[in-house]
Amino acid sequence: MPRVAIIPGDGIGPEVVDEAVRVLESAADRHGLDLVLDEWEMGAERYLREGVSITEEEFRTLEGDYDAILLGALGDPRVPDNAHIRDILLGLRFGLDLYVNYRPCPLLAPEVCPLREVPARGIDLEIFRENTEGPYVNMGGTFKEGTPDEVAIQEDVNTWKGVERIVRAAFEHARDRGRERVTLVDKANALPRAGALWRRAFREVGSDFPGIEREELLVDAAAMDLVRRPGDFQVVVTSNLFGDILSDLAAQVTGGLGLAASANLHPGRHALFEPVHGSAPDIAGTGSANPLAAIRCAALLLGFFGWEEAARQVDGAVAASIAEGETTPDLDGDRSTAEVGAWVAGRLGAGAA
Ligand code: NAD
Ligand code: IPM
Ligand code: MN
Repeated sequence: MPRVAIIPGDGIGPEVVDEAVRVLESAADRHGLDLVLDEWEMGAERYLREGVSITEEEFRTLEGDYDAILLGALGDPRVPDNAHIRDILLGLRFGLDLYVNYRPCPLLAPEVCPLREVPARGIDLEIFRENTEGPYVNMGGTFKEGTPDEVAIQEDVNTWKGVERIVRAAFEHARDRGRERVTLVDKANALPRAGALWRRAFREVGSDFPGIEREELLVDAAAMDLVRRPGDFQVVVTSNLFGDILSDLAAQVTGGLGLAASANLHPGRHALFEPVHGSAPDIAGTGSANPLAAIRCAALLLGFFGWEEAARQVDGAVAASIAEGETTPDLDGDRSTAEVGAWVAGRLGAGAA
């Protein structure tokens, strides 16, 4: 029986995860799915209380005894250096070698698109963000800290192995979903060393997929094009930092962070699902956080376990909640986080899909 560790985390994390769990339980109930959901306390509260973010033993348990992790969000103004985020979130991404950060951005309804002209064919782009390298590895150093001569070096690490495997994951996904094009986003003009490696990997791996068109874009132009012609993108593959930035942009173009889900994967080994958004301290505790991103993570999780019908039903209920205006204020609705969660959970059995 699949075991899922639930880490609600900080800020709006627990609020939206409560609703994702409610929907998961409802889906499990309706479809007769056996699923163990164990809640774990990890986040700022514990870090401030005990000075502990994640222990070695906890990491080993998550690695060995669980089939997936569902995480809300981490981040708290009382931990200004974000140490616990790096330990827990980046610790799990790196420690479990979750090299694929899959961030799908489908436009679920034209009315949530902020653009004046919504692309006629809609928007259905999927970002494959490299998740274990780049500047995130924290290689580098500081020198003469706190003086006018201070130096801070934050190296951008790109390995053939790391790049090849995320590019391959993107092409395999494109093939499996019948997509026509994969777009590489980099900054090969100004960062030619990393650029050369990425482009060579992209062309080499891409040549194994002759039916799929290859497009190469510089990140600044890609940012513009995500606003100008978002409907043209299908599968986008990019580095850790560019993927972080572009995924918030792509999320906003398709309805905002309140809808954007993600999966951190080492295919065949481990999976961690989390909304793309953070802990949103500005709205935490107000009951207005949109739980749909977390609920869409629940759908990704169901699909990951092979429960496709249940996953489709959750996605269908999410789309229905938008169509019927059962939404939080970020989507111009007047429902609370819990009301939206309850509505989606209740809709599952009503043939929403
Ligand atoms: P954020 O994503 O938390 O919030 C950005 C803006 O979007 C805010 O105005 C917020 O109110 C809004 N927003 C986000 N999620 C929403 C939702 N579900 N419903 C409605 N509105 C929503 O980004 P931030 O403010 O830059 O970061 C806050 C904290 O979260 C920081 O500590 C940051 O490091 C952390 N963070 C964590 C994760 C994660 O755990 N995966 C991701 C991003 C940021
Ligand atoms: C995300 C977040 C994280 C990232 C932060 C919290 C380290 O922004 O998951 O998008 O940059 O990967
Ligand atoms: Mn981010």
